[in-house]
Amino acid sequence: LRGSRILGFGHHQPSRVLTNDELSTLVDTNDEWIRTRTGIETRHIAGPEDTVTSMAIEAARNALTDAGVAPSDVGMVIVASTTHRDRAPYTAGRVAAALGLSPSAAPIDINTACSGFEYGVALADQAIRVGSSDIAVVVGSEVLSGIVDWTDRSTCVLVGDGAGAAVLGVSDTAQIGPVSWGSVPHLEEAVLVSGDPERFSQEGRSIYRWAITEAADHARAAVAAAGLTLDDIGVFAFHQANLRIIEPLVAALGGESKFVVRDVIESGNTSAASVPLGLSKAWARGDLPEGVPTLLFGFGGGFAHAGQVVTT
Ligand code: ACO
Repeated sequence: LRGSRILGFGHHQPSRVLTNDELSTLVDTNDEWIRTRTGIETRHIAGPEDTVTSMAIEAARNALTDAGVAPSDVGMVIVASTTHRDRAPYTAGRVAAALGLSPSAAPIDINTACSGFEYGVALADQAIRVGSSDIAVVVGSEVLSGIVDWTDRSTCVLVGDGAGAAVLGVSDTAQIGPVSWGSVPHLEEAVLVSGDPERFSQEGRSIYRWAITEAADHARAAVAAAGLTLDDIGVFAFHQANLRIIEPLVAALGGESKFVVRDVIESGNTSAASVPLGLSKAWARGDLPEGVPTLLFGFGGGFAHAGQVVTT
């Protein structure tokens, strides 16, 4: 059998940390509202030196080091982002050049918003299975602070910047389960990054309602696609949009005893970066249980969702 597995994780966050108290000097909000409605306590905000590309490079480099893989052995790099700066050269091309990847490595940008990492993992896994690549790097990188309206308290308190990455390699056992993915037509316009200048806006209430009523079934479908039951899952790594979405999802999936990624508290919503960032930070701290099935589930703009079970 030719499958794939995760060989390592990496991440990068800007050094500037913005607290809820600082935010309440910018807009009419307060620490208590933000904590009780979202769980967020801090977020990292990009400085002039932090771009989607620079953070993607750092996260990918850290993941390759963690995996013990040489850049010259990488056959594919996928960068998922809602905030890719240029259409050409695109982010993955710049990452491939900066890391010194082989000229035969495929550089691919994708934008399926907050589920971008899970889509990237699915595409990389399939490329490895069919033999197009032996090693792939999948990155989520975002500078949401650049597209948020800093006078709009309903969105600026939610977002953060950062990047996370995973290295996937060929394996004789399939450690990345089949993806379960799709979209929600009635929420097609619920998350927008549009206008000139581009601005992020969302129908927070509609997304919240979908997330606490419908998302659990899609997450269950990813577990079933892997031929597993929820009892087999040791780690839940869901899109870090809001702790008030993560906790009901965990409860609906009977996850009280699981290791749950809750990096939203420290990093806010970093869209495509949120799942690999949270996993990589837990991995680096030595907190992430090893060798146990981990349920990834992302959802957001498009309106797209995707999930799969990976064993780290
Ligand atoms: N500080 C203080 N008060 C605020 C703030 C703030 N920062 N923001 C809004 N309010 C006020 C509103 O004006 C409103 O006041 P009113 O009742 O007097 O009108 C009240 O708080 C309630 O506002 P709601 O928007 O209804 O608050 P809600 O409880 O729905 O929480 C939130 C909003 C956090 C956005 C929630 O709806 C949510 O998390 N939705 C899901 C978002 C999501 O998952 N997006 C994922 C895809 S997009 C992406 O990830 C990039």
